[in-house]
Amino acid sequence: MAFPEGFLWGAATAAYQIEGAAHEDGRGRSIWDTFSYKPGNVLHGDTGDVACDHYHRLEEDLDLMGELGLQAYRFSVSWPRIQPEGSGPVNGPGLDFYRRLVAGLRDRSITPALTLYHWDLPQRLEDGGGWTSRDTADRFAEYAAIVYEALADEVPVWITLNEPWVSAWLGYGLGVHAPGRHGTGEALSATHHLLLGHGLATAAMREMGGDNQLGITLNLSPAHVGKDTAADREAARKVDGNANRLYLDPLFNGSYPEDMLDLYPRLADPGLVRDGDLETISRPVDFLGVNYYRRHTVREDRGTGRASGMSFPGLGAKTVQPHGAETTAMGWPIEPGGLTEILVRINEEYTRKPIYITESGAAFHDYADPAGEIRDEERVAYLDAHFRAAEAAIRRGVDLRGYFVWSLMDNFEWAEGFSKRFGLVYVEYASKKRIPKHSAHWYRKVIWANDLPES
Ligand code: FCB
Repeated sequence: MAFPEGFLWGAATAAYQIEGAAHEDGRGRSIWDTFSYKPGNVLHGDTGDVACDHYHRLEEDLDLMGELGLQAYRFSVSWPRIQPEGSGPVNGPGLDFYRRLVAGLRDRSITPALTLYHWDLPQRLEDGGGWTSRDTADRFAEYAAIVYEALADEVPVWITLNEPWVSAWLGYGLGVHAPGRHGTGEALSATHHLLLGHGLATAAMREMGGDNQLGITLNLSPAHVGKDTAADREAARKVDGNANRLYLDPLFNGSYPEDMLDLYPRLADPGLVRDGDLETISRPVDFLGVNYYRRHTVREDRGTGRASGMSFPGLGAKTVQPHGAETTAMGWPIEPGGLTEILVRINEEYTRKPIYITESGAAFHDYADPAGEIRDEERVAYLDAHFRAAEAAIRRGVDLRGYFVWSLMDNFEWAEGFSKRFGLVYVEYASKKRIPKHSAHWYRKVIWANDLPES
């Protein structure tokens, strides 16, 4: 194995998924508060009101990270803690929380990687149209500048958005995430304004100076055909266009892909995509963050019968389980080879800039055994296979700089509530007790050795 010297081994979380303290210290309401309070949206009616109570257990969690030997920690800042209404004055106590977090990381020699937006849009902005409104992109850049001003000296790695595809399509297209809106047109407007917000925020931070690394995180999934037929090839091409190229192309080539413009004429509407927008969006980043969970195995979907996996409305496509694939508790196929594949493709087709894997991990049905141990050997095997896949990409020339496991601890898994456990650390929700799983002990050794055990 050959992980380069200085390779950063980390873990990731997001504000709404772990912090709790939803009504404290002046935090405003976010779209995830509104969405989770509405019956039927989140499994078991779970909400992030308390979550892992990380807000109150900051010191304990920092110690935990130290004990795990983490070299880096990716967290997100809650916009409504900083600007309760999404614009206007800064809420001091909200900012102070992240100042304490970052100082605590530095004390432990853990490199902070900060995500500005991991889906918790201030509700007030949603009331004005949310990401379907161009104004939100401008507000995002202002918010980014506030956080950058406060923390740029201490935080070397900055990620503007987490997974704009998920924000746009699950939030505004399919309505299974906040804000729960349904419409292809809305998802397309949201896509463009999210990307524009990224570009404006990046420009605003660059203007303020500093040698910080600025980037964006995309969730990327190679699309394979279910059967080698013309119809499945066409369906897979469209899914690849929607899931991957719709984001990679504007960021790295300054244009939306031709075939997606045919499919989505709205993206050619000068009322939405104004002169100069694509230049703003494609201003150079310093790195790309990649979240990898799965491939898409795609079949054409004539709209008959139930799709066994995801369906891509309007694309005539659905995903199916690849033959014989093992799956995680999310039902996602386990395909480490897809990670090598996507990294090499980015390198060959889009950019040679450094890449961080900003999320990769899996949910399994973890439980504490009578001795209080969480023997998550499936997660160990999963991580081992994906680390090897990352290393294979490095050998093929990809400038991979670090790997953030999703997640540091079990947490609020969006529409799945607390039912899905992704953590290296188990959270006993009733007591909020943290128990490192076997995978955490194993990961500690990987980090220490900057290498994997012999297989
Ligand atoms: C990603 C999200 C992250 C987490 C994982 C499982 O899409 O960025 O917050 O929910 O999936």
